[in-house]
Amino acid sequence: MRKKKLLITGASGLVGGHLFARAAKQDRWKVVPHYFQHEFNIMKKQGYRCDLTDRQEVETMLKTVNPDAILNTAANSNLDSCEKEPGKTAQINVIPPSWFAEYAQQNKARLIHISSDMVFDGVKGMYKESDEVSPLSVYGRSKVESEEAVLQRCPGALIARSALIYGRAQYGGFSFSMWIEKRLHRGDPVPLFRDQFRTPVLVDNLAAALLELADNDCRGILHLGGSERCNRLSFALTLCDVFNYNSDLLQSTSMHDTASFAPRPVDVSFNISRAQQNLRTELLDVKAGLQQIKRGV
Ligand SMILES: NC(=O)c1ccc[n+]([C@@H]2O[C@H](COP(=O)([O-])OP(=O)(O)OC[C@H]3O[C@@H](n4cnc5c(N)ncnc54)[C@H](OP(=O)(O)O)[C@@H]3O)[C@@H](O)[C@H]2O)c1
Repeated sequence: MRKKKLLITGASGLVGGHLFARAAKQDRWKVVPHYFQHEFNIMKKQGYRCDLTDRQEVETMLKTVNPDAILNTAANSNLDSCEKEPGKTAQINVIPPSWFAEYAQQNKARLIHISSDMVFDGVKGMYKESDEVSPLSVYGRSKVESEEAVLQRCPGALIARSALIYGRAQYGGFSFSMWIEKRLHRGDPVPLFRDQFRTPVLVDNLAAALLELADNDCRGILHLGGSERCNRLSFALTLCDVFNYNSDLLQSTSMHDTASFAPRPVDVSFNISRAQQNLRTELLDVKAGLQQIKRGV
């Protein structure tokens, strides 16, 4: 049987690296990892270098690779840098997804585009896919625009909205649990919001769900978060508990007392019922996710 070609954009990043590691172990896919600034040369597999803001380069990549499926993880996901440069943000977060959607529609390819819980204003919490979007930041708006651009051009595509991601990087990228662990190891205090709520998802759990979805025809919008709503402080307490870290360095702070360039929503937790109905992959709660990291699986 011919292996299907899977193009993973942003394989040099946090989610893309985990996707690559998982997909490369499956017989099903011939995986093509994409990167831009951080060279990808892993497990004897060279990545495809492409600046996704350059239409000519993207067209050449799609022609050369000719993927049956695209998992588009590449983006600028730094809220403050997006807020400072809205034009540049659109160039990477909105325009390339629209090109992938055109390709997918014309070539009957599977497209999964990663969006974010930041499409919501955080007033209500426990958001369903049918809830109205109302982003507070340039980053959130870019994700809304990317969702619209993709679904207009390729109605069969899937928009996978991810919640806050934790876990250890496989090849590149950085997560907020890595930030906590780094500070704990250095003996630095760890300031953590007690009043911002998300449904954190383990990066490898997210990768497993995305790969399962690459193989089915679930379309529209899907919320991929963990099965537990929590604040950053309670997340860190569970992390200390699972890894036997001293929790004395954790500091309870309020997001309202902390200066940030981009506005941040209070409660963008997800209702993940649709994902649970559509997936065999179980979406983990925080403790189970952290235990999975500890077991090294
Ligand atoms: N991290 C989170 O907590 C979180 C939460 C919700 C949603 N998301 C979304 O999940 C997706 C993956 O996030 P992540 O944390 O894995 O991101 P990441 O680690 O920052 O990786 C971003 C990737 O995008 C690539 N990239 C950036 N600009 C590019 C350009 N001009 N041309 C080509 N490639 C470019 C980078 O390639 P190089 O490094 O090689 O240049 C990198 O591989 C993103 O869509 C993000 O918005 C993330």
